[in-house]
Amino acid sequence: MENLYLPQLSIIDKIVDETSDTKTFTIHFADREYNKKFRFKSGQFVEASVFGVGEAPFGFASNPNRHGSFDITVRAVGAVTRAMHDMKKGDVLGIRAPLGNSFPLKEVKGLDILIVAGGIGLPPLKSLIDPILDARKDFGRFIILYGARTPADRVYKPILEQWSKRKDITLLQTVDNPDDGWSEHVGVVTTLFEKIKLDVKRTVAYTCGPPIMIRFVIQDLLGMGFPEDRIISTLERYMKCGVGKCGHCAIGHKYICVDGPVFSYQQIKRLPER
Ligand SMILES: Cc1cc2nc3c(=O)[nH]c(=O)nc-3n(C[C@H](O)[C@H](O)[C@H](O)COP(=O)(O)OP(=O)(O)OC[C@H]3O[C@@H](n4cnc5c(N)ncnc54)[C@H](O)[C@@H]3O)c2cc1C
Ligand code: FES
Repeated sequence: MENLYLPQLSIIDKIVDETSDTKTFTIHFADREYNKKFRFKSGQFVEASVFGVGEAPFGFASNPNRHGSFDITVRAVGAVTRAMHDMKKGDVLGIRAPLGNSFPLKEVKGLDILIVAGGIGLPPLKSLIDPILDARKDFGRFIILYGARTPADRVYKPILEQWSKRKDITLLQTVDNPDDGWSEHVGVVTTLFEKIKLDVKRTVAYTCGPPIMIRFVIQDLLGMGFPEDRIISTLERYMKCGVGKCGHCAIGHKYICVDGPVFSYQQIKRLPER
């Protein structure tokens, strides 16, 4: 097993501007053998270090079935993320990965899939959406609800455009503050629930976004009659080691870095702090 304490030298292949404060980085490991063998699962995350600045966790944002490189989408909020935004193609990061648990996927074959994403919550869910699309016939209806503050704050605009054209995806988007060109829904993401008809008995819901959004999404899903183990969410927490040793990410008896970041509501409701 690889040493998950040791950052692997990693090269930035590509940087895409998503919004005014968010960029997607495509990365490969400098060690060719390590890079060839590297695999991750939907929902897992990396610890990325900018040497001399610090380290921060980011969810995988690309398809786990794609080998040879992976994506992370990073919003600039502080020291590490701003330093990453200053980097360019060819620059070197340290990466420790893959960390954490993953989204249940094989277990939900045959069910309808509901994705509810807010803002920068879409990237980790994209690592789930991509493999579902690879095996589209294994699942029932596929509904994606995406909310952002403004149309410009949406990540992956060209990909959203592609998804919106697919007949096998129902994609509904909403923003809090529309601009002149916006013709879709206006309001928080939960207001999209009234626009879709769900067969609650045969649907599994995955959500990721700001904590306040997750709280209201879960509340509404429970109100619709979703079983607690069919509501899957990610939890974010300050992290240091990422491997269950330092205790920084603990909520009660759970370490978000190894027991999570993916939890069912059945598990979340047992945590002392929700
Ligand atoms: C499992 C996991 C997955 C994540 N995935 C992504 C992702 O895909 N894309 C992305 O942009 N960000 C993601 N984050 C959040 C990201 O790790 C933080 O934004 C980053 O650590 C900030 O580091 P910094 O040094 O730039 O900012 P700092 O200088 O450390 O902090 C800047 C500001 O951000 C706040 N902050 C820092 N870390 C967190 C945190 N974990 N939760 C809430 N507030 C925080 C601080 O309070 C401060 O206000 C994820 C976090 C976790 C735990
Ligand atoms: S970050 Fe160290 S135990 Fe989770």
